Amino acid sequence: MDKGTHTSKSEQGSNGSASEQGRATIVFSLKNQIGGLANALKVFQEKHVNLVHVESRKSRQNHSELEIFVDCDGDRRQLEMLTQLLRKQTDIVEIAVDSAPPGDDVPGVPWFPKKVSDLDFCNQVLMYGSELDADHPGFQDSVYRQRRKHFADLASNYKHGDPIPRVEFTAVEVQTWTRVYRELNKLYPTHACREYLKNIPLLVEQCHYREDNIPQLEDVSCFLKERTGFSIRPVAGYLSPRDFLAGLAFRVFYCTQYIRHASDPFYTPEPDTCHELLGHVPLLAEPSFAQFSQELGLASLGASDDAVKKLATCYFFTVEFGLCKQDGSLRVYGAGLLSCISELKHALTDKARVLPFEPAVTCNQECIITAFQDVYFAAESFEEAKNKMREFAKTIRRPFAIRYDPYTQSVEVLKDVGSISNMVKDIRHELDIVEDALDRLYKCPRLGGQSEE
Ligand SMILES: [Fe+2]
Repeated sequence: MDKGTHTSKSEQGSNGSASEQGRATIVFSLKNQIGGLANALKVFQEKHVNLVHVESRKSRQNHSELEIFVDCDGDRRQLEMLTQLLRKQTDIVEIAVDSAPPGDDVPGVPWFPKKVSDLDFCNQVLMYGSELDADHPGFQDSVYRQRRKHFADLASNYKHGDPIPRVEFTAVEVQTWTRVYRELNKLYPTHACREYLKNIPLLVEQCHYREDNIPQLEDVSCFLKERTGFSIRPVAGYLSPRDFLAGLAFRVFYCTQYIRHASDPFYTPEPDTCHELLGHVPLLAEPSFAQFSQELGLASLGASDDAVKKLATCYFFTVEFGLCKQDGSLRVYGAGLLSCISELKHALTDKARVLPFEPAVTCNQECIITAFQDVYFAAESFEEAKNKMREFAKTIRRPFAIRYDPYTQSVEVLKDVGSISNMVKDIRHELDIVEDALDRLYKCPRLGGQSEE
């Protein structure tokens, strides 16, 4: 069964109590000896720096060394001291540190991106990056693993503003895509929501969606940019919920570029490009859905770990497994369902339990990764779901409000009189335009208004 969703792993803690939070990616080589890694990681503990993600592998240059990759966050000063201490460790051969920019941090709040290019610091995968777990269908396939390494490298080298590298897919990959595309397309007319169905012909025409062609993420990203302002960022595997949701705040959707293993085209334990292109993309081209997705992302910025977990659960039961009411019956808009034949069929049968989407209830539901969901949530419309998310976001404790600026693709943190009065000035300017437009309408009946005289 395809459970290729995006936020199934719980986030691994971030310390929200320090005064000025920072984030860093540290890569170092270590002599491969007993206790070496434990000693190095002990320094992180001593400096109260949270380990968000750790990977290790044998050095390719020197087999007596290990290469360690650590994604961490914590107090900025402590992070600096940590780096200095690591540099002094005798068994550490080489070290490279990439720290997120200081920016306009809010004391006591986990670091979060303030502008779209800050997402360059939010793309560390939690699992299935360049390595596969033993239960992965491609674990014993060295060709597949090599291919996955290629895609992982493409994603990890990607920086904001780069075109997404075009991929020449192999015949095996295209065959897998063809089987998935063909089977799912049999179900869409009777199962997918109308917004999904409306956008498919556009994707066929403009992004070359065909059963014998895997669309290129770069083409899809350009298409979405014109439709809803969303763009795509390639990613190697699962991100933490915090990083994934942060992308949505800037209308950026993280997409995998690899194809599931050919041994079973109807199963993947992780998101793959079939899931992204067939599940997510058609809805991201819909303005009301795009707005709903961004609301989820904006609510997550600087939120506590507990709040991010609740938002990730809401994401799971909407963007991944959501149903909606249309013309008196239920239809599917969740990408996890739209890319999974068996569960897509199941979700619209009498056997599926369906409740109304209520963020305060939905956020506490258990997300199931290895079987069908116990319950699905149905929205009346994306507009209604967006309004409910907005109201729910107000209940999240955060010492500031956030305002997104589409001109600069950045967020403004509304935490003092100055920032709030700037916003009031902008609103006043917008209201002036509305007033002017109404005036002109009244004075010119030919445009549909009424004359005041
Ligand atoms: Fe997904």
